[in-house]
Amino acid sequence: MSDQRSIGVFDSGIGGLTIAHEINKVLPNEKIIYFGDTQHLPYGNKSNKKIIYYSDKISEFLIKKQCKAIVIACNSASSVALDFLIKKLPDSCILFNVIDPVIEAIKKDSLIKKVGVIGTNATIASNIYKTKIYKERSDISVYSLATPLLASLIEEDNARLYKKGVIESYLSNKNFKIIDALILGCTHYPLIENKILDFYEKKIKIISSLNYVGGHIKHVLKNSSLLNQSLKKPEHQFYVSDYTNNFQKKTKLFFPTSIILKEENIFS
Ligand code: DGL
Repeated sequence: MSDQRSIGVFDSGIGGLTIAHEINKVLPNEKIIYFGDTQHLPYGNKSNKKIIYYSDKISEFLIKKQCKAIVIACNSASSVALDFLIKKLPDSCILFNVIDPVIEAIKKDSLIKKVGVIGTNATIASNIYKTKIYKERSDISVYSLATPLLASLIEEDNARLYKKGVIESYLSNKNFKIIDALILGCTHYPLIENKILDFYEKKIKIISSLNYVGGHIKHVLKNSSLLNQSLKKPEHQFYVSDYTNNFQKKTKLFFPTSIILKEENIFS
């Protein structure tokens, strides 16, 4: 059995590209259709109502493109829109999020005792990580912290602001001095993983959905006989809601050869 339909992946911007890149590494036969909602970035500062509305429109777009799976490559949308999207999804499409594979990994790692979570306002306010971790591991202490400036900073890749110590001032929070592991609860943050590790002098374990999501998707698609067995190199498609040269450049960093970035107005 071979299923040649695409895997849809979405985020507000560049963060989801880190996930799409990982999926492409683990599942090189699969065609990816990416949607970056650059018009509404950052999601993390929006109301739940708006995040659900944007996620819904993007999912409808990806379903129309006949995707066999949709990956919510955004913690903010995974936190607040997942339940809504599950109810609307046709049976022919599987929904993945970036939070559950991280919870699975924490469940298995008995060395983790004090874990920090950083994420957008929306993700942290939802308490989703705390709730899910406490359900699996009552022996762990979870400390969460909203770091709302980081996603926009990463989109801009603003070296001057990094030098001003934005990361350091967030992580100097007293609870974050005693953690043994840190969850990157936003798909933008793997892009500053080294800066975070430097802050902690490499003495903590970083837990990033990047390391788990691709393998999890592969496992589920394989068990459902939905893998694409064709050996033809897939031609990925990339869409944004607001085209900028900056985003085009960023996309090329992750997918150097196959980028044609198109603007698509799906919100009117
Ligand atoms: N990358 C997203 C996340 O994981 C969204 C960041 C934002 O747009 O605020 O939450």
